[in-house]
Amino acid sequence: MKANVLVTGGAGYIGSHTVVELLENGYGAVVVDNLSNSCEESVKRVEKITGKSVKFYNADVRDKAALSRVFEENHIDWVIHFAGLKAVGESCEKPVEYYDNNLYGTLCLLEVMRSYGCKKIVFSSSATVYGDPEVLPLTEECKTGGTTNPYGTSKYFQEIMLQDVYKADKEWTIVLLRYFNPVGAHESGLIGEDPKGIPNNLTPYIAKVAIGELPEIGVFGNDYPTPDGTGVRDYIHVVDLAAGHVAAIDKITGTGVYIYNLGTGIGYSVLDVIHAFEKACGHPLKYSIKPRRAGDIAMCYADASKAKAELGWEAKLGIDEMCASLWKWQSMNPKGYRE
Ligand code: UD1
Repeated sequence: MKANVLVTGGAGYIGSHTVVELLENGYGAVVVDNLSNSCEESVKRVEKITGKSVKFYNADVRDKAALSRVFEENHIDWVIHFAGLKAVGESCEKPVEYYDNNLYGTLCLLEVMRSYGCKKIVFSSSATVYGDPEVLPLTEECKTGGTTNPYGTSKYFQEIMLQDVYKADKEWTIVLLRYFNPVGAHESGLIGEDPKGIPNNLTPYIAKVAIGELPEIGVFGNDYPTPDGTGVRDYIHVVDLAAGHVAAIDKITGTGVYIYNLGTGIGYSVLDVIHAFEKACGHPLKYSIKPRRAGDIAMCYADASKAKAELGWEAKLGIDEMCASLWKWQSMNPKGYRE
């Protein structure tokens, strides 16, 4: 076995796909998740896909005693830190909960890691740290900050905290991966995104309309300065994104702070995504134009060349694979993991 990796939030959407990639590439995986927005069933599905076992701890990263037990019972070489709250709208209503989970959670994790001499961490960051982009495509050198909601601000603060940890102790390896818009599901249809209640994000919403659970898609604004007036984003297949984490652990051997955008470099509009999904599900989808959503930006897409040059990683899957895999997951699991 190569390195043993602790995956916090490993039962969640991106976490579960990353555990699959780790196991399929010869790494060991230990999952810590408090199941606040995920189910243990996803861990069982990961075992089914890979034919390998995953050690699972139902624990909160803010519970330092529980986290210490994990390090006591397992030799951990690397940590990939996904655990945290991630809904933009909810974060505006519950800033205390967001900063507590995301900032205090990361602080507890760093403290426990340090006490066990584990100083290699990959952090699940977001393109949201760039705020409203001044130039496109976004490179890693673009200005960060200017975030517009507590979720985004918590990602920005966590990046700063992690960089300060390296400044104080040069034995750390800090990898900040800035995700663009992760979508799609594993090709098996066994794992995918399972949002509770009505989805906030575009593609899970489209999938629920496609299956007949919701009546129509609301397109939030068609008067943006974009080719068709609707918002443009860099959608990235979650399996490509997961592979980006494995590439980072494979390639990065030295200490330091390493920052990479994980995106495809291609922007698609809301209407492009709806039409791609119609192709995947084989029937037209009802949509109507709604007012702009507060806090949204017109366009956001990556310059992903640094990850290609330094990690040898690039996204391989396109919008059709993203929609087809999401449709497969949605059709095979109309109620997500709940049955
Ligand atoms: C948001 C967050 C991002 C976070 C991501 C995943 C910001 C600016 N963005 O991305 O940090 O990582 O969620 O949680 O904080 N849209 C519709 N109708 C819908 C839903 C969305 O038209 O029902 C449009 C949006 O206006 C946007 C695009 O679809 O143009 C994508 O929206 P969404 O999937 O919510 O992702 P982001 O807002 O880009």
